Amino acid sequence: MKNSINVEYVDKLLKEQFPKINNKVVQAMEYSLFGGGKRFRPLLLLATARAVAGRITKGAQHLACALECIHTYSLIHDDLPAMDNDDVRRGKRSCHMQYGEASAVLSGDALLNLAMEIVMDGPMGDAKYRQAARFLFKMSGICGMINGQSLDLFSVTSTLDDANAVALHKTGDLLRAAIVCGAYVGGATEDQIALFDEIAHNFGICYQVVDDLLDREKIEKSFLDVLSEQGCINYAQKLTDRVKELCDALPYDLDFLKHYADKNFTREY
Ligand code: IPE
Ligand code: IPE
Ligand code: MG
Ligand code: MG
Ligand code: MG
Repeated sequence: MKNSINVEYVDKLLKEQFPKINNKVVQAMEYSLFGGGKRFRPLLLLATARAVAGRITKGAQHLACALECIHTYSLIHDDLPAMDNDDVRRGKRSCHMQYGEASAVLSGDALLNLAMEIVMDGPMGDAKYRQAARFLFKMSGICGMINGQSLDLFSVTSTLDDANAVALHKTGDLLRAAIVCGAYVGGATEDQIALFDEIAHNFGICYQVVDDLLDREKIEKSFLDVLSEQGCINYAQKLTDRVKELCDALPYDLDFLKHYADKNFTREY
């Protein structure tokens, strides 16, 4: 029987990697890393790697943990007063509200460094793993998620293309990291990687369209600036259909991905 890839499994892996010291910044890291995230990115990475390789490898485990650390750091910084100024995250006080801004900044920095350590402690002798690791950090960096945050904060969004560009990077690139790193580390071919990336591209934008619908009360850049509410729902459905169609073009059992694509509307995995 297949091991279950679920939130508890990801939590266990993350606990093994979590620093064994205690100070205020570590407490802030712990508060956010174990603060009720859905673990969507590590779940996607592990499930994609298993679909391709037939098993969960050490490399996939390390990359999945590192990705969740990077995602968590991005949320801590995203909530800071200098960015979205959000007091609440996952129904609780955001990290800087609970621990202060200095601790929140440092805990985000520390999570990014922890991600690097976790990756370096993985099977670095494996060329597939190194390729996946490079992709992970590229998607997290200035050409990836940080590019998206920059567009979100500093660009004008007046067309659907503008909104797509913001979403593709700020949200899409870490979801691309999840799916494509899983495919790389599982041993997919370059042609297959290109298809996985297209799936992730559509999924990433769709995830943000739904996020904007869920956040419709917030005053921030959103797909609702360029589409009506019904327009957003139709667009998300179109992207979901495309994800499912692309899944069928690959020679793997990607039912989990289709399932996640459908569940995106309710965010219950
Ligand atoms: C929230 O991501 C931020 C976006 C990129 C839309 P998630 O919805 O995956 O956040 P958690 O970790 O499950 O709370
Ligand atoms: C967050 O986007 C993207 C990153 C943190 C990289 P949002 O700002 O829309 O996400 P929420 O609404 O705060 O979760
Ligand atoms: Mg933001
Ligand atoms: Mg935000
Ligand atoms: Mg949002």
